[in-house]
This record gives sequence, structure tokens and C-alpha cells, in this order.
Amino acid sequence: MSYVCTLLKSRSLIAALLCCLTCAHRHAAVAVDSDDILIDDFESGSYGHWEVVGEAFGTAPARGTLPNQMEVSGYRGIGLVNTFLNGDKTTGEATSTKFVIRKSHLAFLIGGGPHRDSLGIELLISGKVVRSATGPESESLEWANWSVEEFRNQTAQLRIFDRATEGWGHICIDHIVQTDTPPDRFDLDGQLALYRASTDYLNEPLRPQVHFTPEINWMNDPNGLVFHDGEYHLFYQFNPAGLSWGHMSWGHAVSRDLLHWEHLPLAIPEENGIMAFSGCCVVDRQNTSGFGTAANPPLVAVYTGHGHGKQVQNLAWSTDRGRSWTRYEKNPVLDVNNPDFRDPRVFWHAPSKRWVMVVSLAVEKVLVFYNSTDLKHWEEVSRFGPAGAKNKPNWECPDLFELPVEGHDGKKLWVLEADMGSGSIAGGSGGEYFVGHFDGKAFTAIQDARWVDYGRDFYAPISWSDIPESDGRRIWIGWMNNWETCLVPTSPWRSSMSIPRSLSLRQINTRGASDGSVFTLVQRPVQELQKLILNSKQLETTGITWPPAAVTTTGELSDQTFIINLKLHPGNARSCGLRIRTGENEYTEIGYDREPAAVYVDRRNSGIVDFHPAFAGRHEAPARLIDGAVAVQILVDRSSVEVFINDGEAVITDCVFPSGRTPVVEVFAGDTSATVTGTLNFLKSAVR
Ligand code: FRU
Repeated sequence: MSYVCTLLKSRSLIAALLCCLTCAHRHAAVAVDSDDILIDDFESGSYGHWEVVGEAFGTAPARGTLPNQMEVSGYRGIGLVNTFLNGDKTTGEATSTKFVIRKSHLAFLIGGGPHRDSLGIELLISGKVVRSATGPESESLEWANWSVEEFRNQTAQLRIFDRATEGWGHICIDHIVQTDTPPDRFDLDGQLALYRASTDYLNEPLRPQVHFTPEINWMNDPNGLVFHDGEYHLFYQFNPAGLSWGHMSWGHAVSRDLLHWEHLPLAIPEENGIMAFSGCCVVDRQNTSGFGTAANPPLVAVYTGHGHGKQVQNLAWSTDRGRSWTRYEKNPVLDVNNPDFRDPRVFWHAPSKRWVMVVSLAVEKVLVFYNSTDLKHWEEVSRFGPAGAKNKPNWECPDLFELPVEGHDGKKLWVLEADMGSGSIAGGSGGEYFVGHFDGKAFTAIQDARWVDYGRDFYAPISWSDIPESDGRRIWIGWMNNWETCLVPTSPWRSSMSIPRSLSLRQINTRGASDGSVFTLVQRPVQELQKLILNSKQLETTGITWPPAAVTTTGELSDQTFIINLKLHPGNARSCGLRIRTGENEYTEIGYDREPAAVYVDRRNSGIVDFHPAFAGRHEAPARLIDGAVAVQILVDRSSVEVFINDGEAVITDCVFPSGRTPVVEVFAGDTSATVTGTLNFLKSAVR
């Protein structure tokens, strides 16, 4: 079982507490014929005609998600078979009474683990197994069906079995019918059409307005970011079947300005039980791969294939501006027979005239470097790690690029970034980076690892490939969520991306560094964001004190999305700052705290926080006072806060889920010597 699955299992905590998600059953909405013969819908409150043995099935059908399980969705009504009772370790079997086959197909909803030999449902004729199916490695149930024409009028029995005790060792079954019109496995196009026709299309109260979100369903990491032919491509980990992780495929959108995104059809779907995990995309300008021509160089995606017990690196290519994709027929291009070998990052290294790949041996916390001349044949050239935060688990989703050092004409250094699924600075998942040198083969760090972001919701960032030199920027985007608390209370979509951020390095003095200085990664929202500014308001607040005082009110913030540029001068005060998204007993607080010289985001009272015990919290980033003040830029969308400290030298990214729609900004200080000055800029929506 791969790390991801094990992790997701531990990520499954407290899903039962999850607040109501209106579309929990949405994906079972595919029509089933009225002539169908129902074998069981598990709604009667008992197993009725099933003979049940073992512990895993319980004494009656489950009612939805079980304790400590990730949210189960896609079942019909209330009841279903769910063998996660007391966890994955329990086992058992349920056998139906005999019935006569009267239709061409047997269809059912199935979810849970993928262990073919020890987990599944099977059809027995005269005691012999003639059909069987196992779970999709997902808690979103989906339709499966067997053609049973050849057994018409024969007597049959069904058996649901769970002999699996490892991770994903459970099966979910619901709504077993005999039918002549078997339903599609899942119906993304139908669901999308319904959603696009709805009145609140991309305008739900918590729907981000300047950040990218999938229209519907689950999203995690950004993938394959590449600039080509005037378009920024954004691919992303996407579940076409539901609102939680599963069936990972590459979703796709394009933009000309990094803000307005056009949603495109799935680029690389899961195929034959192999999911399309994270990866990258390059423009193969010299057609080294031979997938295109010199005149029409191909886009080549390099991604992890996850399935059948291992993770391998695969290629897919496009010669029509990313609109259609072909898998390389000789996939995989890299297979080291390892279940946790993933997330390739590839780029052209001009000095050595080679492609470089950095890819993660996730559990070992080791990054492996490869070289290639054609993207198809790869040779290992070095390794980096384990390194970074001590005793922290895995590394995944690496990125590697060169950045200019601010104020040092022409000086450049390399940045190697990697992400850990848990144990990060603010808790849960997060990223760390190293600054150093890279010669086309090996990376050498020149200082200790540093945290990428001090909030909880910035994960697996990767940067755009192939941005023209005339632009010259290195821009990245991260998944604005945290694996620990990923089942956020939004529907019919889950998760958004951060604002695209342009990157540089800055040398700053800091206590604790051996020579008194370190290179720190600087992240700033891309300047394109300025184009969304509708109007601005000066904030000039002196002589403030506790309790907080409102400086702008609801009417002025009707568009709800804004960016505040502030200077916080604490004077003699211990702290000063502001509260946003305030409502009755509700606010998100952002301030400077002299002890321990940090900017913080406190989301303990930010609205909906009870969907996971680790969500409510206060996250701080070290911040120096420059001329007695700290500069903060705060980007506030309907369900997120990104705080850029001292022109981007530290960042706090946190999701917030306010319960009301009454944004007010209030300023506070612990002493009248504090002042807060700046501008508040109202932003127009980029999605409607
Ligand atoms: C990181 C990650 C990747 C993997 C992908 C699967 O969030 O676990 O390592 O490729 O998600 O969805």
C-alpha cells in the first residue's frame, strides 16, 4: 500500500464530524431504469436475506461514514454495506439468498479498497464464482456492472467479502439491481452541465472569487504548469467522480493573465486502474522526444502512474496546445519497482544540454536526480536527502529552479523545494526549501532548510515552466489546503489554489545564522492582481486601542474580496493589527506580536471551524520591524487569507470559512502609541 493511501487513511479522521455537505449523494444521481429489479438497497435497517459472518459487516447495514473513516459519498439513501466497522482490520462475509437472473446486467455502487483477492463482491452460479469486482481505492461509491446475459434464467447468489486487514481493507456496496440499462460509471459531463445551469454557478458564499477553483469535485496539487503560445496552463489533481480524493486524473484550465481561467475537459484521466498522479509539463522545443515536429514542438507531460502496487513515471504529449493528450505507448519511462516514487519535475538544463528530472522517493525522504536527452530514457545522476526538518515523514512534489538575489546584480542561486504530508511548521502538511547550487547533476545546499509558508494551507507548490525570458519571472502556485484538514466545508467543489506568486531571493540578517545572514525565499502576488482593483480606501488609524474599532463596514465591502497593504507600527504596544470577516462572535485576526516578534493569523473564531479538531488555530511567522514597522499585504477572498510579510519575505496562508457574509474591518492595538496605516483595495471577481 502506497504512502498516499496510508496517509489518506490517517487523513480520514473525524470525517463523521464534517458539516453537512449537500452533495454527499450527488454522484449517485445517475438514472436507474424503473423496470430494474432491486436486489437490495440496504435501507430496511437489517441485512434481511443476507447471511452475515465476521465482525466487519456489523449487525445491520451502516448508515454512511463510519467513525475515523474519510467521508463516504455516492451511496443512495441512508444505508449501505460498509466494512470499515472498527477500522480496516476487521473481516467478514455476507452472502445473499438465491435469486434468478432476469435482466442483461447486474449493477451496483461500489467503493473502498482495491485488493482484488481479499476484498470485493462476486457472483456465484451453482456455487462457482463467475464475476467479481473490487473497490476503486476511493470512498466515493461509483457504478459498476456485469453483463450476465449468458446466465439469464439461472439461479445465482452474491457474496460480499472482506478478508483484507491492511490500509484500504474495507469495501462499500449499495443499491444492487438487475437492469437492462446499466448506468455509466460516473457522469462528470452530466454533473457539470447541471451545475453550469444552476443560479449560484461559481457564486456560493464560500466560493473564491480571485483564486482558481474547480467548478465541481475534489482538487489537490497543481500539476504540469507550463506557459505555451500565450497561455498559462494549469493542470491539477482532480477526482472526476466526487468530492473527496480518488480516481486521480489531471483536470485542466488555461489563462492569459493568471487570474481569469477557462475550464477545459479532463486532460489525463485515470486509466485501467492507474491513476494519473502529480507531475509536470514542458515544451519540448527541439522535439527531442519525437512526439511533435520542429515546426510544432510538443507539450510533454511527465507524471506518476499510481496503481497495481507501485508508482512509475509516465509520459503523455499534445501537439494541439494541450487540448488533447496521447499517452506514450512505451510507458512507463521510469520504474524502480517502488510503491512511493512520485511527482517528477523536469526542466531543460541549457549548460549541459540535458533534461533534468527530480523525483521523490517519498518514504525515504530522498530526491533522485536523473538526466535524459529525449525525455524517454533516464539515467540516475545523484541523490539529495534525507535532509530538512528532522524526524518528519515524507517528501513529495519537489521543484527546482534558479532565482535572482535581490539587490545583487545578476547573482543567482538555486532553490530546491519539497513537501511533507504531515509534521510541518503550522501542523499537518507543508513545504520546506533549500538554497544552494546545481550543476545539472547534483544539488548542494548552502544553508539549512527553511519553511515555505507559515500558515497551514499552502501545499505542493510548483512553478510555471517555459515563461519567456522577456518576462523572466519564476511564478508558482500552491494547493490552498492541508491534508490533515482537507475535507473543508465547501460544496460542490473542494479546495482552491493560492494566488500565483512571483519568486525571488533576499539576503536578510537573522539571529541564529552562522554568518548573520540567510537567503530567504520572497513570494509576492503576481502584479496582474492589480488589474482587479476596483477602488481603494486610505486607512489612517492613530491613537487606537482595545477593543477593536470598525474602520470599514459591510456596504463598502460588498464584493467581499480585497487586498490590504498595511504598515503596522506597534509603538509601545505588545500587539496591533486588524480583524476581518467579523460577524457575531466571529472574526479572523491578523496582527503583529512583539513577543516573539511575529506576525500571526488567528482563525480560532473565524466561522466554521468544527469540521476538524486541528483546524481552529493561530499561526505565526517570524517578522522583523523595519524602521519600527512591519509591512503586511493581506489578500482576502471568500474563504482564504494570504498574508505577505515585509514585501514577501515570509507568508502565512490560511483558509477561513466565515459563516456569514458581513465583512467588516476592525483595527486594534494594545496601546495608543500604535498606528496602522495603509490602503484597502476592493477587488472585482475574476470568476464571474
Ligand atoms: C501530494 C500527493 C502527491 C501525489 C498526489 C496524489 O499532495 O500526495 O504526492 O502525486 O498528491 O493525488
